[in-house]
Amino acid sequence: MAIVHDELLAWREEFPLARQATHLIAHSLGAMPRRARTKLAQYLDQWDTRGIRSWEDAWWTLPLTVGDILADILHAPHGSVTMHPNVTLAQAIVLSAIDFQGGRDRLVCTALDFPSLLYLYDGLADRGARVTRVPSDDGLTIDAQKVADAIDERTAVVALSAVLFKSAAIVDLAPVIAKAHKVGAPVLLDAYQWIGAIPLDVTALGADFVTGGSVKYLCGGPGAGFLYVRPDLLSSLKPRLTGWIAHPEPFGFDPGPMRYRDDGLRLLNGTPHVPCLYAAQAGYEIVREVSVEAIRAKSMRLTARIVEFARERGWTVNSPLDGARRGGSVSLGVADPARVQKELDRRNVLCDWRPGAGVRFGPHFYNSDEDVERGLAELSDVVGTA
Ligand SMILES: Cc1ncc(COP(=O)(O)O)c(C=O)c1O
Repeated sequence: MAIVHDELLAWREEFPLARQATHLIAHSLGAMPRRARTKLAQYLDQWDTRGIRSWEDAWWTLPLTVGDILADILHAPHGSVTMHPNVTLAQAIVLSAIDFQGGRDRLVCTALDFPSLLYLYDGLADRGARVTRVPSDDGLTIDAQKVADAIDERTAVVALSAVLFKSAAIVDLAPVIAKAHKVGAPVLLDAYQWIGAIPLDVTALGADFVTGGSVKYLCGGPGAGFLYVRPDLLSSLKPRLTGWIAHPEPFGFDPGPMRYRDDGLRLLNGTPHVPCLYAAQAGYEIVREVSVEAIRAKSMRLTARIVEFARERGWTVNSPLDGARRGGSVSLGVADPARVQKELDRRNVLCDWRPGAGVRFGPHFYNSDEDVERGLAELSDVVGTA
């Protein structure tokens, strides 16, 4: 193994679990930064000492101020990212503002989108939506041209995953966005497997809506998802899934009809998930400081090593072999992945598995090369003892 000078290892101390276990599961639950504990203590102090005044001090606008940290990571203007409890709800808010009428009733998505979102899209049938799921040829990748071909003047919205959860295959978004915009349809992206692993410039990409969440490469823990809305679209967006936080005068307790604020809070609904937003900031700030460019460079090197190791042993790699087309994890098609993952867990190697894709390994910036070697050696041993 070549000796690599790895500046990012300076962050390892900040993630205690990365030293206590072989942590190869950032694609599912990134390790907890120490600072998350400090942030949660700040939350408790605020609640304890400032009480009701906390809303005015910070809590009311927290979905925007925390969103601004992610706006930096997404290369988006401040104010264009709001925080929500999870991706499914963030997407539901956008979709609740879209009309599936007047000849535009199609929602174009793909068969490999995250199932939670497929359930949500299917549920829109009651509102008149006709869902077109673009199939996958191999169960692991999506042909972007096929998605583009499925989009036409009847399309109300194109909703798809930017990096596929099973295989970490990166979807070629450019032809999809170009076709959608040519026919006047907005694009709603699920960038959960992208954010914090691969640099993302939402402004350059020209995406209309981008969602993602906290738990994976952002190391923000559960209970926080984000929604980026292209700034020029905000004022015309009137989510049906709404509430008093979106109202310009919430303390007027006006029974309606609903009026919307001008800023990003118009996308909110009920009382925000304040403790989760405190906890999440720690990971976001660290990812911003480390820089996603540096994270990506290291991830490419570590995932390339996983691919190389697997191919030397003749295992099926269910992720793109080309690093440029692969996100932050590698899926290995070993036999009986459920058994393998369970045994790896017993050996203190944290990873997961997905049906049809196999065991997933997702290293992050806090991992050492030795972590990856240890995980692979244990995997090889477990596979060999089937
Ligand atoms: C691509 C992708 N989208 C969405 C989710 C989850 O969404 P939610 O935040 O609604 O639980 C996951 C994984 O948890 C995912 O991998």
